Amino acid sequence: MNACIRAVVRTAIYHKIEVAGIMRGYDGMINNELIDLDSSSVANIIQRGGTILKSSRSDEFRTKKGRKKAFETITKHHIDGIVCIGGNGTYAGAEIFYKEFGIPSIGVPGTIDNDLFGTDYTIGYDTALNTAMEAIDKIRDTADSHNRVFLVEVMGRDTGFIALAVGIAGGAEAILVPEDQKDEKKLIEIFTRKKGRKKSFSIIVVAEGEHGGAINVAAKLKKKFPDLDIRTTILGHIQRGGSPTARDRILSTRLGVSAVERLLEGGKNECVGMINNKIHFTSFKEAIEKRKPLPAYILDLTQMLSV
Ligand code: F6P
Repeated sequence: MNACIRAVVRTAIYHKIEVAGIMRGYDGMINNELIDLDSSSVANIIQRGGTILKSSRSDEFRTKKGRKKAFETITKHHIDGIVCIGGNGTYAGAEIFYKEFGIPSIGVPGTIDNDLFGTDYTIGYDTALNTAMEAIDKIRDTADSHNRVFLVEVMGRDTGFIALAVGIAGGAEAILVPEDQKDEKKLIEIFTRKKGRKKSFSIIVVAEGEHGGAINVAAKLKKKFPDLDIRTTILGHIQRGGSPTARDRILSTRLGVSAVERLLEGGKNECVGMINNKIHFTSFKEAIEKRKPLPAYILDLTQMLSV
């Protein structure tokens, strides 16, 4: 997100526009927590994870009273347009704020889960993938030398984008995602097939939103195959931090630049995304309502490669 903030600030300054940073999202808007941002305040942040503006989930902004207070802050600071980085909740907040007070916003997709419609990739996804993949490479050493089965849980509360990509990149034998209801059955089939084989070590990637997570799946597997030596690793928030990959920095920069330029052209109620490497705008309404499907062919690929 820092790379995006840097791009937004510098693009605006290039176009002779003043920029303020709203701290802690909508909560900061409500509580008048704004800071001036000049070119030097975004120096040396492109390589840092997280966000210099901090983040929060605001319950108060869900109320009309909260949004009215936020509008008072916006008026006080003579704000003409907002670039907001986040997911569906952020977009929904920006849309209602425009309807009530006429302040235009452009959304930028920021979540490691990659589950936003209107863009092939979201900010943070690639960094999370690489972190999880490196962790799996390390886990693989114990799996191999001790002949164990590892269930590695990755983030993705409602979706398996991270699990799917990390599973392929980490050479997993099976990938369990919330979108596939039959995947537990497929897992049992794999281990039934493997029974009696010398090499029984495996890496199984499980999305956190899948049937109660990896611990639950491990218990079921152990019940069915008591001889397996099973371990579970939950990668958790290490996936949400660290220095962003080059791919993420470039994506964030392009999205940030385009968001500012769209606001200058009179854009509002839209989010910017990248589809087939080209900038694309989608209305908040469509982005919120539509669900981005998992690439199904990748799931089939894993099955084929786990023979
Ligand atoms: O941003 C979405 C997400 O990464 C989910 O995959 C995960 O369940 C959640 O964030 C964790 O959020 P929190 O830090 O609030 O526990």
